[in-house]
Amino acid sequence: MLIKREPEIRSSEITPELVYRSRREFLRTAGVGAVGLATSSMWLGDDLAAQAVLANVKKSTYMVADDKPHSYEDITSYNNYYEFGTQKSDPARYAGQLTVKPWTVKVDGLVAKPADYALEDFIKPHQLEERTYRFRCVEAWSMVIPWVGIPLADVINRVQPDGKAKYVEFTTLMRPSEMPGLRGGGLDWPYTEGLRLDEAMHPLAFLAVGLYGKELPNQNGAPIRLVVPWKYGFKNIKSIVRMRFTEEQPQTAWNKANPREYGFYSNVNPTVDHPRWSQATERVIGQLFKRKTLMFNGYADQVAPLYKGMDLKKFY
Ligand code: MTE
Repeated sequence: MLIKREPEIRSSEITPELVYRSRREFLRTAGVGAVGLATSSMWLGDDLAAQAVLANVKKSTYMVADDKPHSYEDITSYNNYYEFGTQKSDPARYAGQLTVKPWTVKVDGLVAKPADYALEDFIKPHQLEERTYRFRCVEAWSMVIPWVGIPLADVINRVQPDGKAKYVEFTTLMRPSEMPGLRGGGLDWPYTEGLRLDEAMHPLAFLAVGLYGKELPNQNGAPIRLVVPWKYGFKNIKSIVRMRFTEEQPQTAWNKANPREYGFYSNVNPTVDHPRWSQATERVIGQLFKRKTLMFNGYADQVAPLYKGMDLKKFY
């Protein structure tokens, strides 16, 4: 995501991304283990073995047919999580310090069962399934990611929104002592996002708690984040602490920051350019050539009916 304002983190604290990546490349080829370094938690995020295994994860039928998932390394080192800084390498460097246990999700608004739910009660371990989805960032790059989690509809059915609820708003944790990026980043914190209730109930909408069969690393939004694969990445809000059911369309962090550039719907759409760049093609991380962006990120067969009769140039 591009905001024109400068980050307020001192430049001496930022490792340029290329230096950071090549240093890790060097350490890997030189055979230096993550544990041996012990200098900072940034290295632990690299290590798939460091994350707890999630038991009894079912394989889902919602797979991407033609693409192989990106590596754990790619998925956990090239991130957007502005609460930890605006550089792609900041989340992997700084998110390790975030405390994610215990975790509570507040459910409120127009709902029959409002409560502060402990994460263990919110996401039942026996329901977990793996879903490999395409992920398309509004910055025109993409990856393929094997998430673990449960359908968002399962949670919504349990908390029972009432007849007036038309939207659901999500809010991210705001903890300045552990999130250095809250000092800058150009957003009106806390980060919020929203979906229309029928979008949220769609079987593809997912709440992820894991990646590659293990608990989510902090930089990817631990312990619980949203995954809506037909929308741009910024709808996929991380480290969720609240779900509020409303009658009115909720405000969202990026729409508030720049309404001309970031709409409420944010469906992947190759025919609607971002005001500052084209959305017709995308760079698949790790591949040399760009490829054509697909309508609804390739999920048109499943989700197009949600938007029947809507002008998607107006409701971008
Ligand atoms: N959620 C929060 N709380 N803060 C953020 O800065 N960035 C969004 C989204 N969710 C963001 C967030 C953007 S712009 C993208 S592209 C995705 O997270 C990136 O997810 P990833 O780092 O797991 O690839």
